[in-house]
Amino acid sequence: MKHIILDCDPGHDDAINIIIATAKSDIFNVLGITTVGGNVEVEKNTLNALKVLELLNSDIPVYKGQSRPLVKEIEIATEIHGDSGMDGPILPDPNRKEEVLHAVDFIIETVKNSKEKVTLVPTGPLTNIAMALIKDPSIKNNIEEIVLMGGGTFGNWTPAAEFNIFVDAEAAEVVFTSGIPLAVFGLDVTHQVIATDDIVDRVGEIDNEVAEFVKELLIFFGQTYKDFFGINGGPIHDACTCMYLLNPDMFTMEEVNITIETKGEATYGMTVVDLLKTTGKKENTKFATGVDQERFWDTFMDTLTLFNK
Ligand code: BDR
Ligand code: CA
Repeated sequence: MKHIILDCDPGHDDAINIIIATAKSDIFNVLGITTVGGNVEVEKNTLNALKVLELLNSDIPVYKGQSRPLVKEIEIATEIHGDSGMDGPILPDPNRKEEVLHAVDFIIETVKNSKEKVTLVPTGPLTNIAMALIKDPSIKNNIEEIVLMGGGTFGNWTPAAEFNIFVDAEAAEVVFTSGIPLAVFGLDVTHQVIATDDIVDRVGEIDNEVAEFVKELLIFFGQTYKDFFGINGGPIHDACTCMYLLNPDMFTMEEVNITIETKGEATYGMTVVDLLKTTGKKENTKFATGVDQERFWDTFMDTLTLFNK
């Protein structure tokens, strides 16, 4: 059993990751979902998390976190995710609210008090995680691993930087220099799992309301990726994290050093990935470079089928 906290900014692909974690309740004990300002404002991301959980009939608690990055102002991605942060499908307003406790304090208290080590799964800007590590560095000892979506050897928000890292590079630097084991799913691998039309059709053949919701997410997300990037579908970036935790051997991982660029004018938020070990710096990350696509999509479809009545 993996004891995990999903730290996210739903977000189409964040929502899909929540669905995978919830579906595989034999593997994942989701201790809580924490939200952060990212794709849209933290209030909207929090509402989206609650809506998804209601669809899933799940009572996993939700904790609202940081509304803005450590140092700079927030930058959001309505071009990709729409004004609500999860445009496309329409879900009813949820019957419950987020918990009173702040996400950063939830992370600290939960990690400290857990009998088993906790795996953190961030799929948005790393602000909450960095804040927790700054506020109480002792939690490091009880974190099994941080499995995150972010970065890559190319960018999608600037030519050099991926969105999650760009939004809060200072927070990313705190995480990447923490000494905690990291597994990093950047654009190199997430652009190998693009939900093209044939994938959307396969999801459409699964006869349950969660799969129907995922199909609508993929249609909206796929269209913005076509319009914005000229790609033939939406990469379901964030889902790589829980898919990895389900089947680590599905991915090719390289032990590398990653340094976060926080000063460069054209390169702010870049993850400098030392694939050829040119710096001699100690490896601090397992970095995903490949995925068995057939296995990935088969597992994805099987997981959605678990919601059949
Ligand atoms: C990341 O940015 C967001 O738009 C997605 O949810 C994902 O976490 C991809 O760059
Ligand atoms: Ca995200």
